[in-house]
Amino acid sequence: MLRIVVCVSGGGTNLQAILDAIDRGKITNTEILAVISNNAGARALTRAESRGIPGFCISPKSFSDREAFNRAFTDKICELNPDLVVLAGFLVRIPEAMVARFSNRIINIHPSLIPSFCGVGYYGLKVHEKVLERGIRVTGATVHFVNEGMDEGPIIAQRAVSVEEEDTPESLQRRVMEQAEWILLPEAIDDIADGRIAVVNNKVRRQ
Ligand code: GRF
Repeated sequence: MLRIVVCVSGGGTNLQAILDAIDRGKITNTEILAVISNNAGARALTRAESRGIPGFCISPKSFSDREAFNRAFTDKICELNPDLVVLAGFLVRIPEAMVARFSNRIINIHPSLIPSFCGVGYYGLKVHEKVLERGIRVTGATVHFVNEGMDEGPIIAQRAVSVEEEDTPESLQRRVMEQAEWILLPEAIDDIADGRIAVVNNKVRRQ
């Protein structure tokens, strides 16, 4: 049984996709231990609560400095002791100590085809605004392992999504979530739960 902790910041649609996939048997052999948010008002916490999944809010705003938050966040994850940490729309930088402790055991969903439109400043709607500004015809999403860089870890899977003439950042974000994120993240979790993924020389190998 793969024991996971899901980290969220907002609406929790990616968390919901994971919950639905578990219900439908598209994710097997997986248990969500807890959901952690940096945002007390995150609807994602309500989604967890409605399923009886323990939710925790650990916000940088509640600590004197970032180091104190990093320690508290990392300590909580270590206390829960998951096999895998899933960043599902989580907008906080992962502490280096946590990346080191959970090497190749933290995954993230990013709403673009990495290495395009990623790194510092590229999150949420901003990604899609830049895609439209640049006149990109094909975008998508990427699920990847988290390393010490920003959106630079080994790529697990990607899905392409077309950009339509009439797209707004909001309509494009929705399509990328529906056609890519909500498919990629559950599939990656199921692949990891069933031992189909390994990281060799910093590249993902399927087995
Ligand atoms: C969305 O912008 C999504 O593209 C990205 O995180 C944001 C919120 O996702 N992955 P969620 O609805 O909280 O899962």
